[in-house]
Amino acid sequence: MKAWILEKQAKIEERPLQLVEVPTPHAQDHEVRIRILVCGACRTDIHIAEGDLPLKKSPVILGHEIVGVVDEAGKDVKRFSVGDKAGVYWLYGSCKRCKYCLSGRENFCSQIKCTGWHTHGGYAEYVTIPEEYALPLNDVRLEPSEIAPLMCPGIAGYAAFKLTEAQEGDKLGIYGFGPTAYFVLGIAKSMGIETYVSTRSPKNIEGAKKAGAKWAGDASKEGVPCQLDSAIIFPPAGNLVEPALSQVERGGTVVLAPVSASSIVIENYSKNLWGRSIRTLYNLNKSDAEGFFEIVDKLESRVGASLFSFEELQDALILAKEGKLEQPLAVIEIASLPLQ
Ligand SMILES: NC(=O)c1ccc[n+]([C@@H]2O[C@H](COP(=O)([O-])OP(=O)(O)OC[C@H]3O[C@@H](n4cnc5c(N)ncnc54)[C@H](OP(=O)(O)O)[C@@H]3O)[C@@H](O)[C@H]2O)c1
Ligand SMILES: [Zn+2]
Ligand SMILES: [Zn+2]
Repeated sequence: MKAWILEKQAKIEERPLQLVEVPTPHAQDHEVRIRILVCGACRTDIHIAEGDLPLKKSPVILGHEIVGVVDEAGKDVKRFSVGDKAGVYWLYGSCKRCKYCLSGRENFCSQIKCTGWHTHGGYAEYVTIPEEYALPLNDVRLEPSEIAPLMCPGIAGYAAFKLTEAQEGDKLGIYGFGPTAYFVLGIAKSMGIETYVSTRSPKNIEGAKKAGAKWAGDASKEGVPCQLDSAIIFPPAGNLVEPALSQVERGGTVVLAPVSASSIVIENYSKNLWGRSIRTLYNLNKSDAEGFFEIVDKLESRVGASLFSFEELQDALILAKEGKLEQPLAVIEIASLPLQ
């Protein structure tokens, strides 16, 4: 099959990926093989390509927002049949034996495997995956190119939202308005939760208002107009934590979504932290992915994606890094239906 491989990390402008012919994988007894239709491009791919994250495997095929069709099923496979629509996201596998895996919290498993990092991912014609980590998509009405960009920011947004425990009638703060926050807003709206979005750029403030935020502005300049029940912080900016806590009522939760952050200092414990909780988003688990795709058809909001051909992958990653995509996200088209 054709695949883009990464052997040696380098700046994405230096085009470190190579389009080569590799052996087509076959499904083991408990695995499905997916013929890939589309794969969304994610900032994490750039972090792996450039060396911000260490290489776990070399060469490796990047890409973890995969949508395709099962074209081979191992003999022990029960959840999928050939021809089923299926997806693969960041969680590729875990040990299945530890206390976390046995309690549905595989996101904390020390042996977690991530797609397109520990294992080959979606910038190829086929991928194989243990069936229990593949995502059934037959019931999702959206097109594959609409589903792919949901596979990372959509699921992560849903996971961060769940950690807030926000309920109908609540007021939810959202700090930073990238693609992940966009999905949180859509989910909250569909549940009758008011959203208050703090972001700096006029473009994002406008975007949040358009998407249905009750209020959107730059909280560091104008202040959020009311106290909130909970909040999520998306950018890796530790200096947002104390202001967000001070905006949340006692009993509420502030969720930190980033995978890294600058220093977090809480100067006034009694006034701003006491009585509130801080939780962090740590990887994604199966229930996050399945829960998000159960509600996805009910969400009004769709985040736009620019489409690229398979050969244009590195151009898409360069444009994404430079913030020059026409739409907020990029999707790589790898094959089209109908199947031969
Ligand atoms: N924990 C996990 O397992 C996990 C999984 C998936 C994703 N994530 C995280 O989720 C986050 C969301 O990613 P994303 O791609 O949707 O959004 P993002 O690109 O990280 O940015 C969010 C928004 O925050 C604002 N921002 C950036 N720096 C800021 C700063 N210093 N102060 C205030 N605002 C700032 C920007 O808008 P303005 O310019 O308008 O301010 C930007 O649009 C990432 O941090 C990612 O690491 C975590
Ligand atoms: Zn991602
Ligand atoms: Zn485990």
